[in-house]
Formats: sequence, C-alpha cells, structure tokens
Amino acid sequence: MQRTADWWREAIVYQVYPRSYADANGDGIGDIPGIRTRIPYLKELGVDAIWLSPHYPSPMLDAGYDVADYRNVWPTFGTLDDIENLITDVHAAGMRMLIDIVPNHTSWDHPWFREALAYPLDNDSSVPAKTRFAEGPWAKYHLLRGQDGGKSVPNNWDSVFGGPTWHEVMDHEGNPSGWWYLHIFDKSQPDLDWDNNEVRAEFRGHLRFWFDRGIDGFRIDVAHGLAKADGYPDCPVLEEGHATAQNPYWDQDGLHDVWREWRGVADEYEPARVFVAEAWVQPAERNARYLRADELHTGFNFPYLRAPWNATKMREIIDFTLAANKLEDAPTTWVLENHDVWRAATRYAPIVGRTEKTSTVSGDMDLGGEFDWKAERDLETGSARARSNFLSMLALPGTAYIYQGQELGLDEVFEIPSDMRQDPAFITTNGVRVGRDGCRVPIPWNNESDSLGFNSTGASWLPQPDSWKKLAVSVQDVDENSMLTLARNALHLRKTLAALGGITQDVAPLIWDNDSLDGVLSFVRPGRLGGSAIRCALNLGAHAVTLPYGGDVVLASDALAFSDGILNPNSSVWLTA
Ligand code: NOJ
Ligand code: CA
Repeated sequence: MQRTADWWREAIVYQVYPRSYADANGDGIGDIPGIRTRIPYLKELGVDAIWLSPHYPSPMLDAGYDVADYRNVWPTFGTLDDIENLITDVHAAGMRMLIDIVPNHTSWDHPWFREALAYPLDNDSSVPAKTRFAEGPWAKYHLLRGQDGGKSVPNNWDSVFGGPTWHEVMDHEGNPSGWWYLHIFDKSQPDLDWDNNEVRAEFRGHLRFWFDRGIDGFRIDVAHGLAKADGYPDCPVLEEGHATAQNPYWDQDGLHDVWREWRGVADEYEPARVFVAEAWVQPAERNARYLRADELHTGFNFPYLRAPWNATKMREIIDFTLAANKLEDAPTTWVLENHDVWRAATRYAPIVGRTEKTSTVSGDMDLGGEFDWKAERDLETGSARARSNFLSMLALPGTAYIYQGQELGLDEVFEIPSDMRQDPAFITTNGVRVGRDGCRVPIPWNNESDSLGFNSTGASWLPQPDSWKKLAVSVQDVDENSMLTLARNALHLRKTLAALGGITQDVAPLIWDNDSLDGVLSFVRPGRLGGSAIRCALNLGAHAVTLPYGGDVVLASDALAFSDGILNPNSSVWLTA
C-alpha cells in the first residue's frame, strides 16, 4: 500500500453494494465470491479502499441494514471464509477494506429482540400474560415503552420510512399489549437502548471481531441516531434548515461518548483502524463535532451531495464544510452518490419542458418522495453534469467516495415492477414514495447476456434497462471517450499529481479563483514537490465561458468540454496552473 499514515485523509473509497455487484453462483443476487472476481477491475480503476455495504445475516427487510447477527455473513452472500478471503485479496491488491456497522437498531430477528418479545408471549410461568406485561420494562436492550396504562402512542415521532416510530406489541392472544417499541426506520428495525452498558460492550466486541479479521475500518450507519432526548419529548414542527439536534432523536449530545469508546477500540490496533460516519447533521459545525480528535476520523459530506446545480451555492457548501471540518483538523469527504439517493445523472437531469429552478436540487434523496419521478428528464444534460461534477469532486481536497456504477455514469432506474421492489420506503407508503431500488440495480458488466454479465444465468433480482447495454463495462472499456475511461484517468492522475494528493500525504489547500465568471466554479490546488499546480473549472451555467487562464489541459470531462480556452456548459476541465 503506497500510503500508510492517515491514508484516509486523501483517498478514493469505492462503495460496493453486495447484492448488486457480481453474482458468482447465478442465483440473481450478488455475492462475496462475485466481488472477489472484480478486484482486478477495482485495482485498474485506481481505488484505494472498498466500503462494503452490510453483509450480515438479515431478513433483508431493509437490504441488510436490519442485522440479525453482527458476527457472521448472510448465507446468500457467502460465508465467513468468503469474507476473510475477500479481505485477503483486497489487501493483496494494495487496497483497504471498510465494512458497514449498524448500531442504531437491530433487525427484529436479532436474538435480543426475539427473546424480549418471547418473554410475555411464550413464558410458561403461570402468571397471566396481562400481569406480566404490567411488570415491564421487559426488554433490556431495545426501547420499549408503555404509558397511560399502556394504551396510547408514546409521542408524535415519525419514522424515516413513513408512519409512526412506535409499534405496538400484541399479546399472546393477538390483542394490543399497551407496550410499544421504538423504530426510527422500518418496524422491522427496533432501536437499541444505548444507555445500557451491555449494548455498548457488545458492540465493542463486534468491532474487535472484525478488526481482528483484518478490516481497516467501519462506515457507521446512522451515526447521528443512538441517543434519544430525555423523556422522549414530542418533536417540534421543524422549519426547513433547522439544526438537526432540535429533533429529539437526532444528534443528541449523549451519543458522542459512544464514539469516544469506539475510537479507543480502533486505536488499540496497529495500524489504527478508522471510521466514517453516516451523519445527516446540520449545521456543519455540529457535524464536525463527530470528527473531534478523540471521536470519528471522517464523515460523509451530505450537504455537498445535496448541492443544487448552481456555482454560487456549490461554492458556499464547499467553503462551509471545509471551514467547519478545519475547526477539528478533520479532512473533508466528498460524495455525490450512494445506495440511498438517485443516481447523479438523473438527479441533475432537467425536467423536459420545465424551467429549471437552480435553487433546489432536481431529484433529491427520494426518502421524502416529493420528486416527480414520472416526469420526462433530459438525461443527456444530466449525464454531462454527472461527469463534469465527478471530475470536479476529484480535484477537491480530501477523500472522495464513489458508488458502484457511478464510474459508468449509470442513471436511476424507474421501470421496476412493484412486486420486485424491496425498499421499505416503497412498501410502507404503498408506492407513494418510489424508494431507493432504482439506484440498486445490478451492474452491467457486458452487453451480451440477459443479466448484462452480472452472472452467467441471466437471473437478476432487479431488471436492468436495455439502455444500460451501451453503458456496460465491456463497451466503455474500449471507448476512449467513455465515463469509465474518464474515471480511470482521473483516479490515476490523482495518484501521480502531488497537487491533488498524489505521492504526498498532506492535503494541499484549495484556493478559489476570484474572477467573476458567471456560473463557473473554479479553484487551484497549489503544486508541491516540484509538480505543477492544478486548476479545476466546472461550468454550471447555461452558456459557454472563455476562461481567462492559460495552462495545459490535463483532463477534460469529455471531448467537447473545452477548446481554445472556452469551457462549455455542464463541462469541466483540469488545467496546469
Ligand atoms: C442509512 C442507510 O444508508 C440506509 O440504506 C438505511 O435504510 C438506513 N440507514 C437505516 O439503517
Ligand atoms: Ca449469488
């Protein structure tokens, strides 16, 4: 591995969604042996680390973010041996490996929860069930509450996937028991009680279990959850742009103790292991508190992912996230896609016939379901924007995350039959929200077989659109103008250009160009080690712009992006400076 100390400060991390990457046994669901066959592809692409989305045993009611056993592998994905072999192969190829951990909630199939429910239902004591319910609380590890004699919903909290966060347990006769458990997400994902020291100790054990198997770090699911406000107060009506901590179940101060404990565990290892927080927290200064020196190393930069296609707004977001993280001497990460949001090519695609509002993101995270997914979109523009912003992201200082298929420029898939959809957001709302299945469709590796090379049988848990044939890896591989070629070139240049973090470990600053170029985001990364400075310019405006800078073209977002000093709309370029 070429960089060791603090490698996570300036790296490329590639997210593998195991269900949809590569299917070795042909059952239509991706698996760990399949991922192993693609390591040469990842190496050639030029990534430094892989982040594997959950691989644990699970009823798969939220695609594995409902964990039934934190120390094993879902049999459909493979075995513990398979994952150990994957870790070995990833390391042998000079890359690192992060896995997901889900501490806010378990699956309702987790033994702790099953036992908790079994107590009043199956207990063979002669005490009548009704009396036993009155004894509570009878669940030690999850959040069970009853009030008003156990008959009313504890408070007004809404779950992320729709409906209330409280689910009432039925007694053994099928009648409401008056006891409710908390689930911030799906009802199959009961929240854990992080005030319980046994929960904390158990999770430190989970960390060590995987660290001992050689993983280099964890992506922490819902790192802003875990602690709930004392007394479970009602959620106030929140204005747009509110501080997340105003919500009684997000970003509560009590959770930082947990991250200090976890940091202690990571630091027991040599080399120390790392964390990346999935924390949807605002304002940015509160988000940076997760990155204090004795807490987590990095966190996702979701304001950047949500940035509208607007140069002024994007610059503001880049600035305030860099400034907030600087307070804690923490690196910034950059992310434009993951398994929870629409593919960038679709998100950035203007709706045909509608005047673009640049103040809002077109096609934001669909968890809210408020976006018009049936509208016709200008995907050509969307794809050009996804490409050009990808190049711009890779010139920013810090670690960039790439979601599988982003390097192919895949778009969001909406043509999925309802009975094949799996996202609880779709199921809970009876399809009012389209959900996130459309960014989880299996990768097109070639344009020949029925499943586009996902496996050799043609089976696929979600259908791939015909339009993806032209986006398949085998097609893009031999096209010097493809998104894949662009991604490979950009990643390799990052490794060799000191200005972009190659060779050296310290992160060069970002210096904005202050000329007022309408709609253009333009910045310089100073040269180091005798290497040239690099300028990146991204045109988010509607018109071509003449750049007042000289310099040689290092890389451009496509063949027509930049010529004779003119940068086209929806295009970007790296120049020597
Ligand atoms: C965030 C994960 O990224 C998402 O996929 C999941 O549904 C929720 N956390 C709940 O675990
Ligand atoms: Ca399989």
